[in-house]
Amino acid sequence: MFNLNLGNLTPEQFLTEYWQKKPHIFRQGFKNFEDPISPDELAGLASDEMVESRLVWQKDDQWNAAFGPFESYDHLGEKDWSLIVQAVDYWAPEAAAMIEPFRFIPNWRLDDLMVSFASEGGSVGPHIDHYDVFICQGSGKRHWRVGDRGDLKEYAAHEALLHVEPFEAIIDEILQPGDILYIPPGFPHEGIGLEPSMSFSVGFRTNSATDMMSGLADFMIDKELGKQLIEDPDRDISVTPGVINDRDLARITQHLQTVIGNKKIMTHFAGCYFTTAKHELDIEIPEPLFKTNDTINAISDQPLSRLGGLRCSYFEESVDDGIFYINGEQYNLSASLSAAIKLLCNQQQIELSDISDWTDNDEFMNFITRMINEGYWYF
Ligand code: SIN
Ligand code: CO
Repeated sequence: MFNLNLGNLTPEQFLTEYWQKKPHIFRQGFKNFEDPISPDELAGLASDEMVESRLVWQKDDQWNAAFGPFESYDHLGEKDWSLIVQAVDYWAPEAAAMIEPFRFIPNWRLDDLMVSFASEGGSVGPHIDHYDVFICQGSGKRHWRVGDRGDLKEYAAHEALLHVEPFEAIIDEILQPGDILYIPPGFPHEGIGLEPSMSFSVGFRTNSATDMMSGLADFMIDKELGKQLIEDPDRDISVTPGVINDRDLARITQHLQTVIGNKKIMTHFAGCYFTTAKHELDIEIPEPLFKTNDTINAISDQPLSRLGGLRCSYFEESVDDGIFYINGEQYNLSASLSAAIKLLCNQQQIELSDISDWTDNDEFMNFITRMINEGYWYF
């Protein structure tokens, strides 16, 4: 279990003063921190083709990058390289536990846990990210520089590495095991290993209108929505046929707004879109499949865990109708189960005492059993 120590700040104060506004170092944010996975285990993950990994190294002042899987690192020598593994929370529950203290930010904003190993001098280079990140220093030390937001030029230091021009540091510090550096989107930064070191980055994504519009279009096509055509039975005569006049532009905009302004469509879309996993889930179907009684017996002995990376959310308005979303799908249980649905979406682990009100409820227990059989929850 990881306990987050924000120094003299409460999570509310952190959100008001720093979140999306300015970077900050929380010294000993995790006291007595020990790496939840070792460099060797990280290398093991990076050898799996299902796992997204990257190597970045410098040789003769040239930046290089390659995508995994990787079998060996011997050719890289002792210095100036770094291994980055994405979505480690999908594969390693011990590491996924590091996300839990950050749940004061809701599930839909979470991206993933990225873990990196850097040798002495190892770095991915100076760059800008478009997400919020808590970089938790594991074993070893890294030197971090963070600059202010500004109009900095980005350039490709290698075809797979977008770097940023030199910047003046507003933070220039060495992180020790357990220290946490929070960086909002848009702040240039660079971390360089001072010795072999691990770092664990809990990232929170933001979405552009382009991403969401494209997701909305896919959703509408999939659900066969929005097929109504623009109508204009009230058309005026046009003496300048080349013009799309203000009235017509308003008509076009209004036609699109009937979709964006439709709360039912938007909740259904946002529920599916924001619960879709970004990476492949590590799904294991139990064998033999569970029966409802097996679930009750098993949860009496041990907690039920949600699969790493699985996203679950509900809306305040529709959860009371029993509607919620898991991994890009809408589910609907009886309205009387809304408290149970909130529990499933809010908690990573469920114990018998959490569900004691519903162990006799067939609908709920059958649903949980179905989720176990789909590999979404596991013992
Ligand atoms: C790293 O962990 O090496 C890079 C993290 C980052 O700068 O985003
Ligand atoms: Co970064």
